[in-house]
Amino acid sequence: MLMRRLQACADMITKGNIVCDVGTDHAYLAVELLKQNKCNHVIASDIGEGPLQAAEKTLVHAGLKNKATLLLCDGLQAVPQKDVTDVVIAGMGGETIVHILSNCKWIKNNVNLILQPMTKASVLRQWLSENGYNILQEKVVRETKFYYTILKAVYDGKEHNYTQLQLALGVIDWKEKISLEYGKFCLAQWEKLAEQLKQSNQILEEKYRILISELKEKIIF
Ligand SMILES: C[S@@+](CC[C@H](N)C(=O)[O-])C[C@H]1O[C@@H](n2cnc3c(N)ncnc32)[C@H](O)[C@@H]1O
Repeated sequence: MLMRRLQACADMITKGNIVCDVGTDHAYLAVELLKQNKCNHVIASDIGEGPLQAAEKTLVHAGLKNKATLLLCDGLQAVPQKDVTDVVIAGMGGETIVHILSNCKWIKNNVNLILQPMTKASVLRQWLSENGYNILQEKVVRETKFYYTILKAVYDGKEHNYTQLQLALGVIDWKEKISLEYGKFCLAQWEKLAEQLKQSNQILEEKYRILISELKEKIIF
């Protein structure tokens, strides 16, 4: 069974002809995509030889090696565009995801991007909004004590303006129970942070106070 974070990525795959799992590591996601019939073929890529060897082992063990292409490369550099409908980039920092996206031209050709940043998600959302990508959906999942957001984006060449709250926490549906839980968790953290910033950085404190009041509007009825 996949971890919730990776299952949420799998659930966002809609077209699923060829899916590219960038930074596949152990290929757990790639194997499950095939097992769950979410796609016909996977391209499992990684920048490291060790992770790629682990990926090969998992695919062979699952008897699915014939439905996968393994590629050693930085991001999507060696990945051919042909028939790739979805690209998943999970478990990496927001800045690394930006690096990978900004170095690939063909992802602009109606490819579904499923992105799960571990850190600096706001940097990724800002980059998407300034570079013609539309965030179609964003989901929150909780695994042990951590919250993760997974977003689906597609290039449409238009400018998309998101609020500061959306850039910070995601373009999420506040009607969902898990979003409210996540919102309350972040609210407690921001309130603590704003209190600490009172003495050291009043400009940043003010920024957090504004975010806090926007967040309260979403989660307190
Ligand atoms: C923490 S693992 C995440 C594995 C899996 N995607 C997940 O979400 O569980 C990060 C993987 O991304 C790979 N990676 C890091 N930077 C990369 C890049 N620029 N291009 C391709 N793979 C990269 C690492 O080698 C590592 O195997």
